[in-house]
Amino acid sequence: MQEYDFNLNVFPSSREASLVVAKEIADALSLRSSENSSLVLGLATGSTPVLVYEELVRLHLREHLSFKKAKCFNLDEYLGLEATHPESYQEFMKRNLFSKVDILPENAVVPNGKVPYDEIPAYCENYEAKIKDCGGIDIQVLGIGRSGHIGFNEPGSSVDSSTRLVALDDVTRKDAANDFGGINDVPTHAITMGVGTILAARKIYLLVWGKAKAAILADALQGPIDESVPASFIRNHPDVSIFIDEAAGQMLVGR
Ligand code: F6R
Repeated sequence: MQEYDFNLNVFPSSREASLVVAKEIADALSLRSSENSSLVLGLATGSTPVLVYEELVRLHLREHLSFKKAKCFNLDEYLGLEATHPESYQEFMKRNLFSKVDILPENAVVPNGKVPYDEIPAYCENYEAKIKDCGGIDIQVLGIGRSGHIGFNEPGSSVDSSTRLVALDDVTRKDAANDFGGINDVPTHAITMGVGTILAARKIYLLVWGKAKAAILADALQGPIDESVPASFIRNHPDVSIFIDEAAGQMLVGR
């Protein structure tokens, strides 16, 4: 078994891994709530975190977990989508988490995909400022795209990039085509937190499930750390925990 310089946790299934991640987030939130202080969460959308959110909702409904002290910032949003569009990340978060727990609406922040074009730079600067005003992100939840992206930081994104407008990679748009009923309806651009924004979080959880992610996971964890696979940059972070299922780990050398 190869030694890794990051914390790699391999589970038989994504469900088992998701329960552990949800419990860690819930414990951190409960601890802060008991101290009457906030926990700042950076959140992802997509299929990867769905079971984590499902478990957090269960803990809220069944085990009194409160989100009143949570401040959530989402990673990204498609440009041009109304908040109410079924594929918007705003809608995703509402459906999977925000409408099901007691988070205060002002603490459930997802980038606005409908910002007028000329206001985007100021909007992005303000997004960064809002995160900083809350004291920075305590826990950042990440998935990985088959392009190697985290958030929508596609190949070529620099390690110190901040929240900004980006063009989506072809691989990313193809992977989203089914959800949008065809590639032509997949937005071409998005607003995303930067790699630098993500790396500024105090703790990072990267979650990766399924064999479709095995090759890019191996590149991210065992290839060079550079802009060709932006997810590789998380290996430079001092507190990153990686949760994978067996299928996602099948191309890691030394396993
Ligand atoms: C989503 C996000 C993306 C996804 C990634 C994986 O907010 O930032 O980086 O985490 O594209 O997507 P899924 O989980 O659908 O495979």
